[in-house]
Amino acid sequence: MRMPPPTTKEDVTMDTVMGSLPNVWQTSLQMTSIWLLCHPQPDKVPLGHHQEEYFSGPEPKAVLRQFQTDLDKLEKEIVARNEQLDLPYEHLKPSLIENTRLAGNNTLDVFQKHREQELEERQQIYCWATWKEGLPMTIAAGSIDDLPPNMRFHEQKRLDYEWTVIAGLMEMALKYVYTLLSPWKRLEDFDQIFWGQKTAMAEKVHQRWQDDELFGYQFLNGTNPMLLRRSTSLPSRLVLPSGMEELRAQLEKELQKGSLFEADFILLDGIPANVVQGEKQYLAAPLVMLKMEPSGKLLPIVIQIQPPSPSCPTPPLFLPSDPPLAWLLAKSWVRSSDFHVHELQYHLLHTHLLAEVIAVATMRCLPGLHPVFKLLIPHTRYTMDINTRARNQLISDGGLFDKVRSTGGGGHVQLIRRAMTQLTYRSLCPPDDLADRGLLGIPSALYAHDALRLWEIIARYVEGIVHLFYHGDDIVRGDPELQAWCREITEVGLCQAQDRGEIPP
Ligand SMILES: [Fe+2]
Repeated sequence: MRMPPPTTKEDVTMDTVMGSLPNVWQTSLQMTSIWLLCHPQPDKVPLGHHQEEYFSGPEPKAVLRQFQTDLDKLEKEIVARNEQLDLPYEHLKPSLIENTRLAGNNTLDVFQKHREQELEERQQIYCWATWKEGLPMTIAAGSIDDLPPNMRFHEQKRLDYEWTVIAGLMEMALKYVYTLLSPWKRLEDFDQIFWGQKTAMAEKVHQRWQDDELFGYQFLNGTNPMLLRRSTSLPSRLVLPSGMEELRAQLEKELQKGSLFEADFILLDGIPANVVQGEKQYLAAPLVMLKMEPSGKLLPIVIQIQPPSPSCPTPPLFLPSDPPLAWLLAKSWVRSSDFHVHELQYHLLHTHLLAEVIAVATMRCLPGLHPVFKLLIPHTRYTMDINTRARNQLISDGGLFDKVRSTGGGGHVQLIRRAMTQLTYRSLCPPDDLADRGLLGIPSALYAHDALRLWEIIARYVEGIVHLFYHGDDIVRGDPELQAWCREITEVGLCQAQDRGEIPP
């Protein structure tokens, strides 16, 4: 955001709102980035449908066929449900989940000596590097040219990626010039740049982004459904000043009914904000309390933009009954904070960086004949390439984060480091994570529903394959390659995570 959080409600004007929200350049860039990351890929292979046959023999093939049947069934269920919905939830539709890899050379090799030789060679090629202290280890590659050819983008994918970047930059330049001629003064002026590369969902969000209903819905089924949790008590940071007895009564009533929810962005507290084109940026660490209506609608009750501090022990609380612009600005602070936490903690750390640790450890520790190698290798496609690009263009010194994001300029690294110390194995397993957050059994929680279904299907597939090769814990313990792989992930890739107690050794 481009102005500090508001401290009073009465002074919020349209100038305050427009001055706080990102400028034309930042907004256009955000739209382009989303398009770049979300548009259909030319060489996409949906989950479970890779063409290569890594396993031989009828049993693994039967397990894979069952996996495909389960995924197709889930696909049909989601399509049928979405036809009934005004805002279809598509994020976990199996056909949209890409993760397979082109064929490698699985030369049949039955001799132990050759397995060792293969790993020795791979360990020369796939080396670890520290990108930033306190963050997961990465593949040692200064640029994509340093990556082994098999790990780079396929030519068709590379051309599509690079062309989309060029097209996006051209579109941004046009929007910038266009808005120079008629600068933004009111919220409606955002429409001036709402053209070009965009999705059908973006169109719907554009029409209703100011509604409380969509604001609440996004915590359940938006880009970041990872932060919301059902309240078990009133958060200690929520200081209710005198005169707010009605609000306290409402919160306590919802709490007793089990319909009180919260989203706390405390991870952002104290993260230094960036300076963009000479303009100081601002960050906050909001708390939102929401209630779930019997219909399943999630609606905000109160927003505290900043936690209490010695200089402000009772921060202002923003309510839906406040002047509309003050309430809108408070919600905008929440959405802005959600972007940073989602992008850095849940997207970059939990998916990209963790996937890279597993991909590198797999190449270093498991020979091509190992069943876990065969199981995982189709799902590591492009991980090293996209992450190397991100470290060179997105989160690098002088990269996109430094150029336009409020968390750029080092704040983003601090935030990921902080998130890394809080990483738990449970938070990576949807059944545990959703149970811990009190989100099971809620009909309007579409992410939770689809994530659990997909998890069950993947678990059935993985267990089916694993049980063909491992008939008991003693066989797992007696597999030196598998044990070395686990140690490499925890002790090397995740920087001694076993000592932090939340990741199993
Ligand atoms: Fe991504």
